Amino acid sequence: MAKERQIVLSVNGRSRSGSFPSHRTLLEALRELGHTEVKSGCEKGDCGACAVLVDGMAVDSCLTLVWTVEGREITTVVGLGNAEAPHPLQKAFADCGAAQCGYCIPGMIIAAKSMLDRNPQPSDDDIRVGLSGNLCRCTGYTKIFEAVDAAAATLRAEGERR
Ligand code: FES
Repeated sequence: MAKERQIVLSVNGRSRSGSFPSHRTLLEALRELGHTEVKSGCEKGDCGACAVLVDGMAVDSCLTLVWTVEGREITTVVGLGNAEAPHPLQKAFADCGAAQCGYCIPGMIIAAKSMLDRNPQPSDDDIRVGLSGNLCRCTGYTKIFEAVDAAAATLRAEGERR
């Protein structure tokens, strides 16, 4: 049996720990810790369903070994907001009807958050490129791109009010 080591993670601002072998991926570890909002799709870096933020950058958690992110800040879609206080991206996805089966949406929102943090005023092409690592089998993408554009406008307006 592979040797395990206690690893402490910071997930959505909370300290979480578990005992994992060195080959355990961040995706597997997060789901073992109950973070089922992080979705498992291809497990090869192709679909983006498993995306989380690590220190603010979107990464595919299926390609990330859990021990490499010890001490870094991990954010899942649940860490962005909730039903009472949704993040503008979460609200825009709901308002625009951007989810059908919904499986890809946590990864889509994480990828969009990472992009908008770096580019608050994305062009249509910027949005397409920013989400190019995230696959959706249902929506045809149009409503997803509209939602990201709407959220970007909301975030810019919120920034101007501050
Ligand atoms: Fe990680 Fe598909 S499950 S990219």
